[in-house]
Amino acid sequence: MRFFVPTDIYIENDCVKNHTQDFQAIGKRALIMTGRHSAAANGSLDDVTGALDAEHIPFQIFNEVEENPSTDTVRKAAQAARDFEADFVIGIGGGSAIDAAKAAALLLSNPSVDADDLHKAPNRPLSHAPVVAVPTTCGTGSEATPVAIITNHKIHLKKSIPHRIFPALALVDGKYLASAKKALVVNTAVDALSHMVESILNVKSNAFNRMFPEYGLRLWGECKSALLSDKDIDANLYEKLMLTSTIAGMSIAHTSTTLPHGMSYDLTLNAGVPHGPAVGYFLAAYTEVCAKFVPGDVEKILSLLGLKNIDDFTAMLQNLIGTYAVTREMRDKFAAAMKVNRSKLDLAPGPISPEDVDFIYEKSLNIKP
Ligand SMILES: [Fe+2]
Repeated sequence: MRFFVPTDIYIENDCVKNHTQDFQAIGKRALIMTGRHSAAANGSLDDVTGALDAEHIPFQIFNEVEENPSTDTVRKAAQAARDFEADFVIGIGGGSAIDAAKAAALLLSNPSVDADDLHKAPNRPLSHAPVVAVPTTCGTGSEATPVAIITNHKIHLKKSIPHRIFPALALVDGKYLASAKKALVVNTAVDALSHMVESILNVKSNAFNRMFPEYGLRLWGECKSALLSDKDIDANLYEKLMLTSTIAGMSIAHTSTTLPHGMSYDLTLNAGVPHGPAVGYFLAAYTEVCAKFVPGDVEKILSLLGLKNIDDFTAMLQNLIGTYAVTREMRDKFAAAMKVNRSKLDLAPGPISPEDVDFIYEKSLNIKP
C-alpha cells in the first residue's frame, strides 16, 4: 500500500491572505490562469493578486480558460507564460482552470512538446513548472490530484493527460462558494460524491486510501439535505463542502476514477453536459453493478450517505441533477466505446461484462427511439 499526496494544502478561511509568504517559496514570476468572470466575482482573483503584490511577485493574468479547456488554450497560456518569463503558474477556479494550469506548467518547462501531443505517453516523466491551485468550486478536487483533463478538439478527445502534475501548493477557502449559483454547487458536489464512490468501488481501493472517501462520504451525507433543499446553501456549509471536495480529490489521487467518469466524457464532449451531472447520471447504476462484486462496500457507501438502498441513491441523484435523454444511436455509440475502454473497465472491483455496460446506460439515461 502506498500513500502519496505531495501538495502543501491549507483549508481555512482567508488562507490566501494568511499564507502570502508561501508564494515566495514557489517562484519569482507568476502566470495566473482563470476563466473570464467567476474568479473576479467571488474575490479569489483579488485575494491572489493582493498576495502576490504583498510579496512583490510580478504576475500576468490569462483569463481565457473555458469549460473543458482545450489544447489550443493551454498552448496559448504556455506561450503567454514564456513571453512573461513566468516560472510558476496559478490556477484559480474550478477543475478547468486548475487542470489547464497544470498542462500549461508542463508545456512551459518543455518547449519542444506541442499542446496537441499532451495526451501521448512520454518516454520518461517530464518536469513541470510549479503549480498553485486555488479552487472556487466544490467538486473537482484537482488541487489534490495529479490529474489534468484536457480536450483536444482536433481528434475529438476529452481525457486526462498521462503526465502526473500535483500542485505544489493548494489554498482552499470555502468563502469563494458564496457567489456561486446553487446549481453549480450541486453539480460540483455530485462530482465530488462520484470521486469518493468511484474510489471505493475500485480495484485500487485499500484500507489505507479508503480513509479518505469514507470520511468524505460522511461529510457529504451531512450536506445532503442542504443540497436537496430549495433554499440557498447556508454559509456555514461552504467550508465543509470544500473540505469534502479536497478529500474526494485525495481519494482519486490514489485510485483514479472508473466507469461513471469514463462514460461522462462522451456526454460532455458530444452534448455539452456539465461534468458533475454527466458523471452523476451513471453513478447509481454503476454502484448497483458493483454490488455483485463488493456488496459490503456498497452497503457502507449507502450507510455513510444515510441512504437505505440503491433505489434511494437513484432517487437522490435524480432530485439533484434530474435525468438526461439521448437517442438510441448515441447510446449505442457510447456503449460500444466503453465496452473496450480498458483504462476504466480494469479499475472496477470485478469483471464488468458488455451486458453490465448496457445495463448502466439503459438504467442511467432516458433512451429516445
Ligand atoms: Fe470528476
